[in-house]
Amino acid sequence: MRRKKYMAGAILLILLAEIFTGCGGTSQETTPKSIKVGVTVYDQYDTFVSQLMESFHRYAGKKEEETGIAINIEVYNAADSQTTQNSQVEKMINDGCQVVCVNLVDRTEPTTIIDMAEKNNVPVIFFNRELVEEDLERWEWLYYVGAKAFESGIMEGELAVKEWQEHPEADKNGDGIFQYMVLEGEAGHQDAIVRTEYAVSTIVEQGIEVEKLGYAIANWNRAQAQTKMAQMLTEYGEEIELVIANNDDMALGAIDALKAEGIGQEQWPVIVGIDGTDVGLEAVRNGELAGTVYNDKEGQAKAMLELAYQLSTGGSLKNLELEKGKYIRLPYAKIGPDEVKNYEFSEEKSIEER
Ligand code: GAL
Ligand code: CA
Repeated sequence: MRRKKYMAGAILLILLAEIFTGCGGTSQETTPKSIKVGVTVYDQYDTFVSQLMESFHRYAGKKEEETGIAINIEVYNAADSQTTQNSQVEKMINDGCQVVCVNLVDRTEPTTIIDMAEKNNVPVIFFNRELVEEDLERWEWLYYVGAKAFESGIMEGELAVKEWQEHPEADKNGDGIFQYMVLEGEAGHQDAIVRTEYAVSTIVEQGIEVEKLGYAIANWNRAQAQTKMAQMLTEYGEEIELVIANNDDMALGAIDALKAEGIGQEQWPVIVGIDGTDVGLEAVRNGELAGTVYNDKEGQAKAMLELAYQLSTGGSLKNLELEKGKYIRLPYAKIGPDEVKNYEFSEEKSIEER
């Protein structure tokens, strides 16, 4: 008898807990009228990330229209500080966000955030800056949305190969060797490491002999890339035949340096980038950039939104086709002068929707 009472009490407690937490997103019976999603980005001035966020807001608007459920989004800028980002996550949890989306500042330091999330039973969608799998495995309600990094490197390499094959003048000194330099994103970022490696190996696999003149880390940043490129130009000048940039902003920084030096476009090395941001696409359109690789910000934003929505409303994740139950990785697309016309600014469609 006593035991029965105990049991009934325990069940009641569990039920009450489920009603009042509201944050787990896993057990609501009734659909809420509104949901609250928190987002923190590593740097709001990063061109790609800020465009990804614009898409995220757009998809949220569409989803609201579709479902009649208000989606409130809080966005914070961590301004390159992991400590700041940790406090932001704490605030978002205290504010009652059902899900938090985290663009980690330091992808090796997700522990504080994971512990807070688990303690408060709030799912986390990490995006764009990938943590290691062991960290993602630390708790059930952790996810990652990003892209297939190696694919972007392969495609960037292919763009360079095409230029080499179709434009013999790309071999400026006529020695049959493609002299290249690399503008790298942040040291230790998954995309920087993998993109460089695959871009170069793709060129080599096509039987083209290459020579690395040098590399510089420019942290995805246009102004830093311009400075680094100016230094490279002083050191190697005309010898540079190819600039492999880990993203469009750095490719554009290289172009800024060439222009600032007063070097005519016919003398420029081949320059390739990754992202297909508005400015990147414009540079392909006007022939300054040989090509770029589309980093599907719409596809990633849509996946994040859908996942956040389902987690907040206790919906099913079945249609999201999560890899290992945790990952969503969107493919890239190659954009040379021929493909760029399919990428009008006004379109804003994911690769799949195009
Ligand atoms: C990459 C993107 C870069 C930069 C970086 C930030 O995927 O290509 O431009 O935004 O993410 O983590
Ligand atoms: Ca050469």
